[in-house]
Amino acid sequence: MQQPSEELLSLLRSDPPTVVLTGAGISSESGLATFRGPGGHWEGRDPMSLATPQAFDAEPTTVWRFYDWRRTQAAAAGPNPAHRAIVDLESKLSSLTLVTQNVDGLHERAGTKNVVRLHGSLWTLRCTACGTEQKDLRPRLDPLPPECGCGGMLRPGVVWFGESLPRDAMQEAQNAARLCRLMLVVGTSSLVYPAASIPQFAKSAGAFLVEVNPERTPLTPLVDEYYDGPAGEILPGFVSGLA
Ligand code: OAD
Repeated sequence: MQQPSEELLSLLRSDPPTVVLTGAGISSESGLATFRGPGGHWEGRDPMSLATPQAFDAEPTTVWRFYDWRRTQAAAAGPNPAHRAIVDLESKLSSLTLVTQNVDGLHERAGTKNVVRLHGSLWTLRCTACGTEQKDLRPRLDPLPPECGCGGMLRPGVVWFGESLPRDAMQEAQNAARLCRLMLVVGTSSLVYPAASIPQFAKSAGAFLVEVNPERTPLTPLVDEYYDGPAGEILPGFVSGLA
């Protein structure tokens, strides 16, 4: 397995402001399917065709059941060594911001404190009428989308294709990217914007970019170091090299 380079270890030892940007791949060793990898389909449907406001308008019950399934899967999964390595890094560095596209909550369950969620959370419901958000940690909800106190229909509190990202989260991610000296990009195909623009932003502000992914992505040619392997095997090496 690829060990961290001396350059990366010495940068980590200098306690740089750090951003870790994660995607679905960081949870694949927890048993959760990625979006574009094998096993991502649900009842023969491509998740991308269900993760849109149009799909929810047309088939609210189907989309609701799909998210119920995702909550059940996420609740049954646990954080893996990659999630835990980020917790360890956060405890060793003065400033670490974790920016995630994931909605599964595994970073929070592992214990990462400073989490910026770009795509919302499976564990939040939002009213389609009044916009109120509520936390709901139950893995299995009603078979039909429930009603908010105002009478509106509740929907999953995630960002769907064609929707804007939460303004504060994107702002926070961009600020952290502008200020960081090290960015680790882990388990994302770097295909979905605006999240995929964040490493480019950090790079142009002078950060050292590291990518961890068993497959090359459109970001790979831009990074300073590419680690070709599963995050659960590579990231713990970054932390133990620091000790
Ligand atoms: P993708 O499914 O597009 O990409 C997952 C990436 O993880 C791929 O590049 C894999 O090679 C990589 N990968 C797989 N196993 C890995 C491992 N063990 N360690 C490290 N990397 C691994 O998922 P995302 O990039 O997260 O958006 O997708 C971005 C967004 O597209 C999602 O947040 C979601 C989706 O549609 C919304 O729902 C708005």
